Amino acid sequence: MKVLTNIKTLYRVPADGAHDQVDAVSDAAVAWQGGEIAFAGPAADLPEQYAGAERFDAGGRCVVPGLIDSHTHLCFGGWRGDEFAARLEGATYQDIQAAGGGIISTVKATREATAESLQAKAAEALADMAALGVTTVEAKSGYGLDHANEIKQLEVYQALAKTQPLEIIPTFLGAHLVPEEYRERRADYVDLLCNEVIPDVAERKLALFCDAFIEENAFSLAEGRKILETAKNYGLGVKIHADQLSAGGGAGLAAELGAVSAEHLEYARDEDIAAMAAAGTVAVSLPIASLYLREPFLPARQWIAAGARVAVASDFNPGSAPSYHLHLAMTLAAVHQRMSPAEVLRGVTTHAARAIGLESTHGSLVPGYRADLAVIDAPDINHWLYHFRPNACRATLKSGRWIRNDL
Ligand code: NIG
Ligand code: FE
Repeated sequence: MKVLTNIKTLYRVPADGAHDQVDAVSDAAVAWQGGEIAFAGPAADLPEQYAGAERFDAGGRCVVPGLIDSHTHLCFGGWRGDEFAARLEGATYQDIQAAGGGIISTVKATREATAESLQAKAAEALADMAALGVTTVEAKSGYGLDHANEIKQLEVYQALAKTQPLEIIPTFLGAHLVPEEYRERRADYVDLLCNEVIPDVAERKLALFCDAFIEENAFSLAEGRKILETAKNYGLGVKIHADQLSAGGGAGLAAELGAVSAEHLEYARDEDIAAMAAAGTVAVSLPIASLYLREPFLPARQWIAAGARVAVASDFNPGSAPSYHLHLAMTLAAVHQRMSPAEVLRGVTTHAARAIGLESTHGSLVPGYRADLAVIDAPDINHWLYHFRPNACRATLKSGRWIRNDL
């Protein structure tokens, strides 16, 4: 049994609360046994039996559930700083893609990279994320775009899950883009995914979810439906990159397929917002991508008013969102998506957990949940999101173990 005391504000963030319910407790303590929370509440109520337990002092800071980054493209070869500069001079994301840059250039670099080098590079990012208080990371393939290289990325995630402390939730994104060699015969690529790659990924349990990028230059609604229905039949959960650059109806398809989440969504139509809310599909907002692409931010007030759960994630990737700084995404979600700090906190805890199917074990600090938490050097979440710093996190607990402790 271990106990963390001297917590100025503890955010328990219950899974089934209102969109801004975070259950803040002043002068609190948290106790855990092995990898599970045993107590979380006012220090004065800490049961007698914990008197002899090993103690840690939070130093009057605030404590939140371990942060969950519910959308990343963690494993990739190379970087694309040259495109960043070209975009600043006026080129659009779509122009760059049409000229053979963008995702396709990362596909080249990822295919050329060894699994070992990809793993080492992703591990560096994960170490930085852990220092930020992130304890669980969803991670997509999608830069292989052939059977062997998609599997290579997913195997990198499998290896990372065993060699570093953060939990990795792998998602198959073979439907990120049609690779160049299939440009003139797209139906064959869809068939390859449906007949060979998805069955293999499912059989080898290399992914829990299947995602598809439904957009004008990526996959059509009909192609997406076929791929995702196949994935569902193989037992994978469904996610969709939807309505990022234009209103393509991806959000409506997510609702129709009972997807666990849909992402981006900046251009989603009103009727699709209502359909997603009714289906319980989490809206994963990606404000760092909006920032870098100078695209609109998610109108979160409209989504929340419609009854949808809005998660906040980094979208870390070498093109649209070359940063895994989840605190930055949180401050952007507050300022540009007009979410309250409490709504933002739910967006990186309970709603993020739901977006990856973990809402009954992760994202809340209540007895029986995973002992994942972050100690934030601020008296409360308002101060944290307002006073953006390189890193306000001082300590990170993952499954009952300190993976960072600067208390
Ligand atoms: O989520 N939208 C498509 N995929 C990524 C970007 C990938 C890239 O640019 O390499 C995204 O923004
Ligand atoms: Fe993405």
